[in-house]
Amino acid sequence: MAKPACRYTCTSCGAVSLKYSGKCFSCQSWGTLEESPLEETLPGKTGPLHEVKDLPVSESLLLENKAVPPQRISTGMQELDRVLGGGLMPASAVLIGGEPGIGKSTLMLQLARHTSPCRILYISGEESPSQIRDRAKRLSIQSDDVILVSEVNLDKIIGVIDRDKPDIIIIDSIQTLHTGDFRSSAGTVTQIRECCSALLRETKQRNIVLLVIGHITKSGSLSGPKTLEHMVDTVLQFEGESFQRHRVIRTMKNRFGPTNEIGVFRMDEHGLKEVTNPSELFIAGRTSGVPGNAILAAIEGTRALLVEVQALVSKTNYPVPQRICTGIDSKRISILLAVLEKRLGFGTWGQDVFIKVAGGLKLAEPASDLAVACAVASGLNNTALSPGMVCAGEIGLSGETRAISDGERRIREAAHLGFDTIILPKENTRELKPAIRKLPLKIIGCSSLQEALEEMKLSG
Ligand code: TYD
Ligand code: MG
Repeated sequence: MAKPACRYTCTSCGAVSLKYSGKCFSCQSWGTLEESPLEETLPGKTGPLHEVKDLPVSESLLLENKAVPPQRISTGMQELDRVLGGGLMPASAVLIGGEPGIGKSTLMLQLARHTSPCRILYISGEESPSQIRDRAKRLSIQSDDVILVSEVNLDKIIGVIDRDKPDIIIIDSIQTLHTGDFRSSAGTVTQIRECCSALLRETKQRNIVLLVIGHITKSGSLSGPKTLEHMVDTVLQFEGESFQRHRVIRTMKNRFGPTNEIGVFRMDEHGLKEVTNPSELFIAGRTSGVPGNAILAAIEGTRALLVEVQALVSKTNYPVPQRICTGIDSKRISILLAVLEKRLGFGTWGQDVFIKVAGGLKLAEPASDLAVACAVASGLNNTALSPGMVCAGEIGLSGETRAISDGERRIREAAHLGFDTIILPKENTRELKPAIRKLPLKIIGCSSLQEALEEMKLSG
């Protein structure tokens, strides 16, 4: 059978097919398949391996490392430095994603305040230099080290990098860039991938830091090919809603530091301000004595945070009761509701359950189970929890509590914010350091959800 001479790539999702079709078999979009040549082996590249010259040197793992660790560039914002793993790494590439209007461009412009004497090249495909200048004036950024360019053509951008020799490049945004090598329009998978890899090649060679702003899709993931996230060293994502005052930036991937680290900012008329004690922010405005509210001692990256989990349980008017969750996985909630019903007799059938993590934070760690279950039980029982009480713990399907990570850091944070009781899984309270025992709060270890609810004066 004759070999096909070309293949067809979907400009929307990147799927490859050997036959043309009006509809992409993968993402079901119409008219998105484009012809692209098949990759061919270069002539003369098929010889046996022993003929290859200039093989890389193999080194022992135990060889003493004499290389000086590279000096990180501080952004002047501790919260941003933390999510980056201690500042910008030279020659690294960072992708910043988030909803429109959440503050990506503002944050990037604010970098200019403290990165002097680094020269920043700000390439915007969305705003003109005068609009950016206007914003810089509002943010009181007066820096000679920022060069503004409004351009979307990749070849011209590389020319500008050659000419202006910056230390940091900001691309706002990757979806607006376009390279003439492909027929597809800006924002398509091929364009995004090719533009990003060309920029990476240029910046890595010249030891330049590349900061790329990326849009996100309706479902909240970064738009464009998944390979974009694999190409860069660090992926930061804005969490929360753009209409809230504060903004959370989370590290989704970091080759030079821990992931799941968060940085908290507040947006005001002078731009993004750092929030140095986020626990105070997440529990601010809570009304004690209201049934359905529980305080969770969470761990986000390297720091402990107190967060309020709210549950509203009310009689349903629908044949199938609603389960609506904000900031927490709804499947996890279904499991917890089943455990509450089967093991403890807290039936929620016939009731709508609404769960919300106050402040727009997204909770992913299993240690949030106990606070969610207690909030639901408190809402269902119409009994408020003691306002000085904090909890954390994973719950198993038999209703047992399971050990969680960083118990001591959670205890310290609760004591630091003046709470008087913390409820944790029993294993976490077994071998506590004397310094932790001396803290002015009562540490209660429970081996099951039943025990925890009894401590909270809630019973089925
Ligand atoms: P922007 O950085 O343009 O968002 P993105 O690039 O992610 O789309 O931020 C725009 C929003 O921030 C807009 O709603 C106005 C608000 N904002 C302030 O509240 N204060 C400020 O000082 C600035 C510059 C913006
Ligand atoms: Mg913008």
